[in-house]
This record gives sequence, structure tokens and C-alpha cells, in this order.
Amino acid sequence: MNESCHKETLPNILSIGAAVPDKVVTNEDLEKTLDTSDEWITSRTGIKHRHVLEEEEIPSSLGVDASREAIEESPVGPEDIDLVVVATNISDMPIPGTSPFIVNELGLSSDVPFFDLKAGCSGFLYAIDVAANMIKGKGYERILIIGLEALSRVVNWEDRSTCVLFGDGAGASVIGARGEGGRILSTSMFGDPSKAKLIRLEGGGTRLPPAEGSEDDERYYVRMEGKGVFKSAVNMMKRSSLNVLEDAGLALSDVDWIVPHQANIRIIKQLAKSLGVEMDRIIVNVEEYANTSTATIPLAFKEGLDEGSIEPGDVVLLTAFGAGAAYGATLLEW
Ligand code: COA
Repeated sequence: MNESCHKETLPNILSIGAAVPDKVVTNEDLEKTLDTSDEWITSRTGIKHRHVLEEEEIPSSLGVDASREAIEESPVGPEDIDLVVVATNISDMPIPGTSPFIVNELGLSSDVPFFDLKAGCSGFLYAIDVAANMIKGKGYERILIIGLEALSRVVNWEDRSTCVLFGDGAGASVIGARGEGGRILSTSMFGDPSKAKLIRLEGGGTRLPPAEGSEDDERYYVRMEGKGVFKSAVNMMKRSSLNVLEDAGLALSDVDWIVPHQANIRIIKQLAKSLGVEMDRIIVNVEEYANTSTATIPLAFKEGLDEGSIEPGDVVLLTAFGAGAAYGATLLEW
């Protein structure tokens, strides 16, 4: 790629780690407990399987496993991490967030600052943006970011319109001021709060506190306006994608791979059509993992690397949308 294309050089994604639970729930498994079918789920979403935590497993353990791999794969050690950002929409407990537990479990320095970041399914890309700017503006050097989700804990397994869509998983990256890996060319964060209730879990917060009998109340589970989400998703991912390209002075024709949020194959195909990009330039793994929210981008990116699709020098565009409605994109050269 031409060096003169860059307005400025941003930090690097040094590594990617990923973790999913061992337990797999297939569409056929869901047919046994729900009025649904493999045919309906596959044709509407492209999903065949999802990995789901067992009852006794703690969601943050996925973040720990993904982080261990990300640190091992990076040129730095646990002692070098100087900030931790955990993008997640659920927590092991309401207070504190999940980040201190992960920092503790990883045995990082007791001085390392940490925080949770809640930006729907766009959390991992928001975390990249925040980390890149903390490096540029505040002098941090090696930031561990984690996208961690266990939506299996907050969906209603009797609601066929939502539970079939989601899975559990985590991804992590070390973002460094310098080094090998993916050179970040541009990042963006956007939001449309007028769509705040498109995807929501109303119960359990201060407006609707936990209450007796809440297990029978749909407001205590994740719900969404499926068709509204679908329509907004394509526009949001397109806008953020074009924004990072313009910012970096590049065109879609310069992009080798697109890694979109893995919510639904039909949304991904519609995005490809809208951008005028062939599907063979898009990394897709929604069939195996379903929508793992903040974890979909690192899981798909890592798969693209592991199977040899994404190669050194490739320009990769990451784009996501989610609850909030928060959306964003990252452009990088691997
Ligand atoms: N199995 C069988 N039928 C189901 C079902 C399931 N798992 N889930 C819903 N249905 C039924 C509904 O009850 C409804 O029935 P009705 O017409 O009798 O009321 C019907 O299917 C709706 O079908 P359709 O209009 O074809 O649904 P759709 O094309 O809008 O697809 C989604 C539904 C959820 C797959 C689609 O809207 C979507 O993907 N939205 C985006 C969701 C998303 O990605 N959310 C996460 C964002 S981070």
C-alpha cells in the first residue's frame, strides 16, 4: 500500500485471541424445545450452531482465555499491559464491571487501570478506537482490549424470535504503539440514540429493578424489533465503512477483506450488495457461532487469519452495529 495514502499513522493490532464454550447447541437441538425449524433459522439467518456456556461456567472466563491467547500471540508479556478495556453488555455482577476480575485472573500488574465499555455489538470496534486514541493522546503503549459476551444468560430460551440468534464467545487483542501486526489506518464511532430501544433488555436496571416473578416477564430478557434492526444495520455499517475509507484516503477497491458484525447472513449479503462488493471478499462464520455480539469481529477476523484468507499486507475493513444504536468501523493493513 502507498505510504502517502495515510493522513497519519495510528497504532497497531499486535495479536488476536479467541475463545468459545465447548457446548454446541444446534438448530436441531432447538427444534426439540421450540416451535422452530432448522429450515426457518437457516434461511432467515444463516445460523446452524451456537456455542453456549454451561450453567456453572462464568462468562468472564471466556475473556480470560481469549486474553491469554492474545498476549501469548503478541510480542509483549502480561507485565507489559498498561490498560485493559473490556467491551461487554453483560457483567459477572452489576458492580463492579467485569474488567477487574479479568485483570486479576490474568495476573496483570496491580497498577494497571481498567474499565468496561458498553456499546452493543459494536463494543470491540469502539474499544479499538478508544485504545488507539489512548495510545496517541495519553501515551499508553500496550492496551489489552476484550470483546466478551454471554447473551445466552439474558435471552429467553422460550422466545423463538430471539434465542435462536445468539451465542457466547470472546475475542481479545493487544493494541500496541508499535510492532508487527495490523497497522490501524482509521477508526470511527457513530451512534443513533433515536434507535435506542430497537434492541433492549429493560429489566434489572434502576428503571425496572429486579423483582419477584420477573422470570415470567419478557421485559427481563433481550428483545428487539427484528425488521427495524435489519433495515438500520445495513445503512449503519455502510456509513461507517465509507467514513473510515474516506478518512484514510482509500477506496473500496483497495480493501482485500471485509469483516462485518456476524448477526445474520442476510444482513451481510445486503451490506455487500449495497457496497457493491462480492461475497468472496467477506469473512463469514455466523453459521458456526451465531451472533456473539462484541465477540463476532475478533472471532471472524481470527478465523480469516487462521485459515490463511487474510495475509500480511492485506487491507481489512471491520464494521459493526448494535444496541444503542452504536456503530462503527476500523480500517487496517495486516
Ligand atoms: N422459528 C420459526 N418462526 C419464527 C421464529 C423461529 N425461530 N422466530 C420468529 N418466527 C416467526 C414469527 O413469530 C413471525 O410469525 P408470524 O408471521 O406468524 O407473526 C414470523 O416468523 C416472522 O417471519 P419473517 O417476517 O419472515 O421474519 P424476518 O424475515 O423479519 O426474520 C429475523 C426475522 C429476526 C431473522 C430478522 O428480522 C433479523 O435478522 N433481524 C435482525 C436481528 C439481529 O440481527 N439482531 C441483532 C443485532 S446486533
